[in-house]
Amino acid sequence: MFFYFSPLVIKIFFLKKQNDNFYSLGFETSSSTASFCIFEFCRNPETQRKAQEEIDRVLKAHGGKLTYENIAEMKYLDACIDETLRKHPIASFLVRLASTDFRIPGTNAIIEKGTSIFIPVLGIQRDPNIFEDPLAFKPERFLNSSNGNGNSKGLFYMPFGDGPRECEKIFFQNNF
Ligand code: HEM
Repeated sequence: MFFYFSPLVIKIFFLKKQNDNFYSLGFETSSSTASFCIFEFCRNPETQRKAQEEIDRVLKAHGGKLTYENIAEMKYLDACIDETLRKHPIASFLVRLASTDFRIPGTNAIIEKGTSIFIPVLGIQRDPNIFEDPLAFKPERFLNSSNGNGNSKGLFYMPFGDGPRECEKIFFQNNF
């Protein structure tokens, strides 16, 4: 049997799939991150107090109005979310499939085309060689550094993934 799908139908299928993705990938990730953040606040009341003080201060300065711009002024709260995502990345590992043979730079090791690759995000983000005292909840790491460690080079903070399949949240953050 032969089916013909017009470009419009294919586009509708694609948009429907993206819509499903937005719900399934956007909802659980955000709610789990909020839950982990509250969990860390309970274990570290001093961080909760600082975040609360900042929220009160910013809201007071803007007559109690909660807007997108006001939230952007809450740098400590932002650092709390970053630190939550470091310690509790929702995707604890990323999966990729090698599309070509690839030699790891500086070595003779070849990753052959078709090999599945698992990137251990949780292990990397809790590596004591990268993050000092990795099991401690320290939002301050992210106050002056977007990746939590101004001294280390390379890719080691990736709670939203990286590359072409990176979370579309990054897209939203950068474009709206
Ligand atoms: C704290 C919140 C979130 C976290 C931690 C998170 C994390 C991730 C991660 C790790 C990936 C895989 C990236 C990769 O393989 O490189 C991903 C993909 C994705 N995320 Fe999120 N996400 C969050 C919120 C959202 C929201 C709010 C939306 C939509 C409104 C969303 C939509 C997507 C979509 C559509 C993909 C698939 C992208 C693709 O495969 O091309 N995410 N997310």
